[in-house]
Amino acid sequence: MAIKTIGVIGAGTMGNGIAQGFAQAGFTVRLVDVAQPMLDRARATIEQSLKRFVDKGRLTADARDATLGRLTTTTSPEYLNDADYVVEAIVENAEAKRELFTALDAITHPHVILASNTSSISITLLGAATKRPDKVLGMHFMNPVPLMTLVEMIRGQSTSDETIETASGLCRQLGKTPVEAADYPGFIANRILMPMINEAIYAMMEGVGTPEAIDTVMKLGMNHPMGPLTLADFIGLDVCLAILNVLHEGLGDPKYRPCPLLRRMVAAGHLGRKSGQGFYTY
Ligand SMILES: NC(=O)c1ccc[n+]([C@@H]2O[C@H](COP(=O)([O-])OP(=O)(O)OC[C@H]3O[C@@H](n4cnc5c(N)ncnc54)[C@H](O)[C@@H]3O)[C@@H](O)[C@H]2O)c1
Repeated sequence: MAIKTIGVIGAGTMGNGIAQGFAQAGFTVRLVDVAQPMLDRARATIEQSLKRFVDKGRLTADARDATLGRLTTTTSPEYLNDADYVVEAIVENAEAKRELFTALDAITHPHVILASNTSSISITLLGAATKRPDKVLGMHFMNPVPLMTLVEMIRGQSTSDETIETASGLCRQLGKTPVEAADYPGFIANRILMPMINEAIYAMMEGVGTPEAIDTVMKLGMNHPMGPLTLADFIGLDVCLAILNVLHEGLGDPKYRPCPLLRRMVAAGHLGRKSGQGFYTY
């Protein structure tokens, strides 16, 4: 069945980028969030991002207007009852996601694929919250979605080949490259990235270097496009902590223990860019 209407749930850092990507590629997009202010912010972010594409000559003004015309926002998940495909991008919390997948299973047509943008949570667990585990997969976009071309595709225990093929085809329609990973905590990307970010926070906490020094060493010394503390602020410190907790619990190795400084910053509401304060001030 042709996929025309995409539901995206969660309009935060990732959800707005995912919605933009699908709308730019010609799909009708319904963006859902529990919070109206997040939906307003998402629309403003998408408008800004499209404006930058137009300014750089990578998108025409007509295409920008058409993209915005294909996007609607709502606080009612029931609005996804006619979606052909759904991507979930709510908070990185297994219970919240499981509850949502059970609700989506009831709202959407039984043939609809339900994808999660989770960074670390088991796809098998999310699939088991539905009556269609063969149609549940991980579709892990990278931040910022409009610029990053990788999508990590995670196959749960019951995910069918057909589901992976359909989702991979959609990735290509978005101009992105799908890479398959198995359903282990943190998959490939965050199993490798998060220990580095965590170690950078330990190094800062122990006074090995200032945030600027740590980031500059990794940028100029390792040729990383941005330092690990800048990247952590960009991802969101609450998201980093949630992923490290999943890695620590799921793999049982103390090397994944979240740095106490990270815990303290999250408890203080210093979440990085999105809160205006993290390792740097925004
Ligand atoms: N931030 C990153 O760099 C990044 C990268 C890849 C994947 N991810 C993953 O993407 C997901 C979203 O992360 P984010 O950084 O966009 O988070 P975020 O905190 O920026 O946004 C989460 C949004 O979900 C909404 N929400 C919460 N519960 C909801 C519900 N039940 N129904 C509808 N909306 C709900 C919140 O209001 C908020 O707007 C997480 O699973 C995260 O691990 C994040």
